[in-house]
This record gives sequence, structure tokens and C-alpha cells, in this order.
Amino acid sequence: MKIISVVGARPNFMKIAPFVNAIHAHNETNLATKIDHTLVHTGQHYDDRMSKSFFKALGIPEADINLGVGSGTHAEQVGHTMIAFEKVLKDKKPDWVVVVGDVNATCACSITTKKENIQLAHIEAGLRSGDMTMPEEINRLFTDRLSDLLLTPDEISSQNLFKEGVSFDRIQFVGNIMIDTLESNMLKAKNLDICEILNRNRLSMNGQTTEVGRLQSGQYALMTLHRPSNVDHRSIIEPIVSFIRNELVEAIPLIWIIHPRTEKQLKVFGLWDSLLKTKNLHILKPLGYHELLRLNIDASMMLTDSGGLQEECCVLGTPCLTLRWNTERPITLEEYGGASVLVGNDVGRIQHAFFDVINKKRNPHRPDLWDGHTSNRIIECLLNSGL
Ligand code: UD1
Repeated sequence: MKIISVVGARPNFMKIAPFVNAIHAHNETNLATKIDHTLVHTGQHYDDRMSKSFFKALGIPEADINLGVGSGTHAEQVGHTMIAFEKVLKDKKPDWVVVVGDVNATCACSITTKKENIQLAHIEAGLRSGDMTMPEEINRLFTDRLSDLLLTPDEISSQNLFKEGVSFDRIQFVGNIMIDTLESNMLKAKNLDICEILNRNRLSMNGQTTEVGRLQSGQYALMTLHRPSNVDHRSIIEPIVSFIRNELVEAIPLIWIIHPRTEKQLKVFGLWDSLLKTKNLHILKPLGYHELLRLNIDASMMLTDSGGLQEECCVLGTPCLTLRWNTERPITLEEYGGASVLVGNDVGRIQHAFFDVINKKRNPHRPDLWDGHTSNRIIECLLNSGL
């Protein structure tokens, strides 16, 4: 069987790593059903810290093909990817293309695959936020509508697909592949030292003002923010920054890991310099997988608009304020046993939830099949697909 798998942006890398490993493990012991695998990187993310460092840390072999698409508008990214990926498909003629997640690379390669009449499998199918202003929601809808094999992380996602009219035989509930990565990297992460992570990655120089001991013993909040809906408008980001400077860091030290988009926007709005000078606020460059996991393991609380972090907080039990009005991952919410509450981007709501959650205990929760063995189930599904 000939498979091409596709990655493009940072959240894809943690999802492809266990899949690639599972193919290698399969090929070592099953010569008769050996999988001929090609890894394609569209190049949507290209900075070392957004891409190469994850390949290295997670042991992903260098991509066989890099389409070099880079940044641009959505149409530019999708269009350039489709043009370049079509050539790859015509040349390689795979039996299956496997896409992961919901980034522009996922959507672009899905459309191209079906136009070439090739079978398409989607890892992380069926997630729905219902929010059509999210580019990722559009990518999810396209990808799932076109996929022949829809590999879902939880039963809610399977139900979403069924309600949309996808036939049962195309839906396979396999569990969450991100948790395969979490499980196999936990030990390595635990061995890292929090202060070293801070010192290596710090953009602000205010570490001196925080007792290092407090950070070491896990008394800190952790934050990531990158969605255009949160960082692209001054009217949204400015009040959040004021809350952080005036209230949050007075209550607990904050480690804020900055996405390139967010740094750029904070500079545009003239908020960057004051943040760098804020006491008890540690602004860090984008972190490697193990470094972020290490900080999450001991954080008192997470504030994030990332999808993957909601899932990791669920399994680790880190109380999580999700700075969004909706989530495609409801299974991570408190009402389903998870650690996350939706707080949107209204400061009053964030403030209220923050003081509510600040003394909450960890509550680890593991949804069904978030067991570290999802990639093996996916390989089985592909091998049993009749090709
Ligand atoms: C993309 C995904 C989003 C995911 C996020 C994780 C889509 C629609 N969005 O958003 O779902 O949560 O990745 O990061 O696919 N940039 C760099 N270096 C890089 C890459 C980007 O500096 O290596 C900067 C560029 O200024 C670029 C901006 O970040 O314009 C945004 O990058 P882009 O790939 O368009 O989207 P993300 O916001 O990263």
C-alpha cells in the first residue's frame, strides 16, 4: 500500500509523529503488507521554532517533499498548496492520502486528493465548533465532506458526522492521536528543569522579580494566544493585556508563550514594550514540545485559545480557561469531566473565571481511547480498507 501523509503547521506535527512511527513499526514486522510511505510538508510553518524543532524533538524523519508554500492570505496558502500538491499526486499516485487536523494544508491537500480521485483519510475527523468565522471550521467541513475514511477522536465527533449524513462504515472511532505523543514524551518532559526553560527562552528580563522557588513548585499560570479573533483587533487584545498587567500578575506569576502572529500584533498596537517590563510576567519565545509539556505538567492554570492544549490540559488535569466562545472539543469541558471552561474574550468573564479557578485542584480525565494507542488503530483501519 502506498500512502502519502501531509503536514503543514505546528499542530500537525504532534499528530503525524505517532502515525509515522506506527508505519515504521508495522514495516519492520509485516513484510507482506509493507507500507510505502511519503511524508509531505506543505511549508505553511517554516521557522525553526514552529517546524524543524518539532521534527527533531518528536523524531519525525525529514519530510520527503517540502512544498515551500510559506505565509500568505488563506487563498494564497490554499491555492499554492493545491498547485504544488497536485504535481506530487500525479507523480506518486498513492492509494491513500492521510491528512491531520484542520489547518490550511489539511483542506488544500484534501481537495487536491479527491480531484485526483485518490482515497482520503482524515485523522481528527468530526470536530465541530459551529463557528463559521473560524478558518479551521471551514477546513474541517471541507476535509470531512471529502474524506473516505473519517478517523474520530471521540464519540461526540462520530455523532457529529453521523448527523451530517456520513455513512457509519466510513466513520471509525480510533481515539486521540495527540495523546499517543503525550504518553511517549511524558518522561522526557518531566526531566526538564523549569528555570532552565525560562532562561533559555525568555524575551522579557523580569525573572529576577519572581521568586524562582514559586515557579519551581508549580505556582504559576501559563498562557498562549494566537487566534486572529483574539489577537488581530486592538479592542479585544488591549483589555486582555490590561487585565494581565493590572490583576493577573498581581495574583500569580504568568508565563506567556508568544506566537509570531501575536508578537507582531502587540507591536503594531504599541503594547509590546510595556508587557516586556511587567513584573511577574515571563514572555517566552515559541517553545519546543517537551518544554511546553513540562510547564503544563506543573502549571496552576492554563489560559489558551489553542485546541491541542485544551486536550492536553484535560488529560493532565490542568484547570484551563479557554479564551473562545465555542470549542470543537467539547469533551475537554468541565461538563464532560474535563478541565476546561469557555470564557470567550470578554475581560469581565475572563477575570471572573480566573479568580474562580485560581485555587482549583488538578482533575486529570481521560476520555475513551485517549490511551496512547490511536496510531496503531489507524494503521489497522487503513490496512483493512480493502486496497
Ligand atoms: C495556523 C493554523 C491554526 C493553528 C496555528 C498554530 C490555519 C488556518 N491556521 O495559524 O489552526 O492553530 O497555525 O500555530 O491553518 N509565522 C511566522 N513563522 C512561521 C509561520 C508563521 O512568523 O513559521 C507568522 C507569519 O507572520 C504568518 C503568521 O505567523 O503570517 C500566521 O501564520 P499562518 O500559518 O497563516 O497561521 P497561524 O496563525 O500560525
